[in-house]
Amino acid sequence: MNINALKNAFKDCFGQECTVYTSPGRINLIGEHTDYNGGFVFPGAIDKGIYAGIRLNGTDKVHAYSMDYDEQCVFGLNEEDLPEKSWARYIFGVCREIQKRGYSIGGFDTAFYGDVPLGAGMSSSAALESTFAFALNDLFNLNIDKFELARIGQSTEHNYCGVKCGIMDQFASLFGRAGHLMRLNCATMEFEYFPFNPKGYKVVLLDTVVKHELASSAYNRRRESCENACARIAAKHPEVKYLSDATMAMLNEVDVEIPAEDYMRAEYVIGEKQRVLDVCDALERGDYKTVGDRMYGTHYGMSKLYEVSCEELDCLNDIAKECGVTGSRVMGGGFGGCTINLVKEDLYDAFIATAKEKYNARFGHEPKVYDVVISDGARKL
Ligand code: GLA
Repeated sequence: MNINALKNAFKDCFGQECTVYTSPGRINLIGEHTDYNGGFVFPGAIDKGIYAGIRLNGTDKVHAYSMDYDEQCVFGLNEEDLPEKSWARYIFGVCREIQKRGYSIGGFDTAFYGDVPLGAGMSSSAALESTFAFALNDLFNLNIDKFELARIGQSTEHNYCGVKCGIMDQFASLFGRAGHLMRLNCATMEFEYFPFNPKGYKVVLLDTVVKHELASSAYNRRRESCENACARIAAKHPEVKYLSDATMAMLNEVDVEIPAEDYMRAEYVIGEKQRVLDVCDALERGDYKTVGDRMYGTHYGMSKLYEVSCEELDCLNDIAKECGVTGSRVMGGGFGGCTINLVKEDLYDAFIATAKEKYNARFGHEPKVYDVVISDGARKL
């Protein structure tokens, strides 16, 4: 699939020319499950995204064609028009969230495809939401700023797709810049671009090609645990607004008041805050050893305290460690998807070969391999 195929598909379907918009998926070097806890994240946009051809049609209906599923869907713009197809709900949700904020939009025709692997933890859904939020803002001249566009995508997940996600994925998809990661403070929404070009290293994703059932309800439960721990701490320390504001000493004060599970979740989140800051400092010094150590630290926390890893991800992490890979960890929400690995260039081939062989021997299929290219965020093509 490419842009020409998209334009042709649009023409076949709707008999007209279209304008093409794209918005990418993301990686996250470190800072996981911290966004909805008011902590730091450190993502970058990637060279894989959603591409949509769009043309306003002057009606009050949206006519959408998913090239990947080869399915069409027509829906109206009122709350009761919620489409059946799950891919269409993302587009519908974006339209509704824009309208709920007081903006007026009309119908449009669209054909779209994506090359972000689905369920791999690279945020294909945020790419889809951001593509349409960005495009509709442009086509209807709404003048919504990019932070609000990100919130429109996030609310789409909350209200139409059942995931109480944070802001990281939509933020990264909209604000991405080629060659740069972004450190975002999710409590204040202040962020900084960091040039990211680790000399002598490659960043590679190994995709387990598994996505475990109930990932979204497990995600929502993690969030509830964090909110519970935070509320207990805030009762004693009113200055604590988000769990990431708390210290381990504060958490220990409420130890007996909260379930052991909530304690573990909070312990992970509090530790993760410092790991992001350490990684940013280390990057500025070119100290990749520390970057890698913190990545392993995050994997340990996500596996043993936050419990969002799985056999397949732990296996890929162990293989990375055995091969002497500098840093490796589960990336994104967890329960399947990818590990992100910081690998010395001269180790790369041996690592990939070993990972394929050992993973295949245990699970009967190889992991997929994606080299990371940090790219620009949402744009019109
Ligand atoms: C998913 C969510 C994000 C974030 C990550 C974990 O990708 O959409 O908001 O919480 O998981 O860091």
